[in-house]
Amino acid sequence: MNLSLKMYGTPILREKAVEVTLFNSDLKTLADEMFKIMYEARGIGLAAEQIGRKERMFVIDIPPTSDLDQNGQRENPEVKLPEVFVNPKIISHSESVQKGIEGCLSFPGITAEVDRWYEVSAEYQNLNGNKKIINAKGLLARAIQHELDHLNGVLFIDKISPVKKILLDGKLKKLLKETKKTI
Ligand code: CO
Repeated sequence: MNLSLKMYGTPILREKAVEVTLFNSDLKTLADEMFKIMYEARGIGLAAEQIGRKERMFVIDIPPTSDLDQNGQRENPEVKLPEVFVNPKIISHSESVQKGIEGCLSFPGITAEVDRWYEVSAEYQNLNGNKKIINAKGLLARAIQHELDHLNGVLFIDKISPVKKILLDGKLKKLLKETKKTI
């Protein structure tokens, strides 16, 4: 596979991903490729669309040292990562939201504050097609929401306040220009 990171401005990032129905070795190969590209770019999450694929899936890996609340306690000690999330859906979430600084591998050098639910429960399938449920808090919950948005063509810059978006305008326009040269 010769896949690479797709940057802001690439049309696929605005498309809706397609439900996965075949849980075969090609899907495993795609997941391996996604992890490889994510680790190379030092990300904690990556959606298939970000490497130009339409499968409804994303991968997440958050190091234990980043899975901490304000008091330094692990948020999700029982969750085993890395994990591949196929056909994910949020089935419930907390009322409370948490502000946090977010970035995205498709937006190099750009970060912004985004509100996300503090806690989510999501249903998904693993690479074998088995149904699984994850209860996630904090950064992991944020990553799940961010990646799930990608699968619906939604990007984190859609979720920031209009005032803050104006501040990012120059950087976003520059990135769009760079991307147009490559597609
Ligand atoms: Co992203």
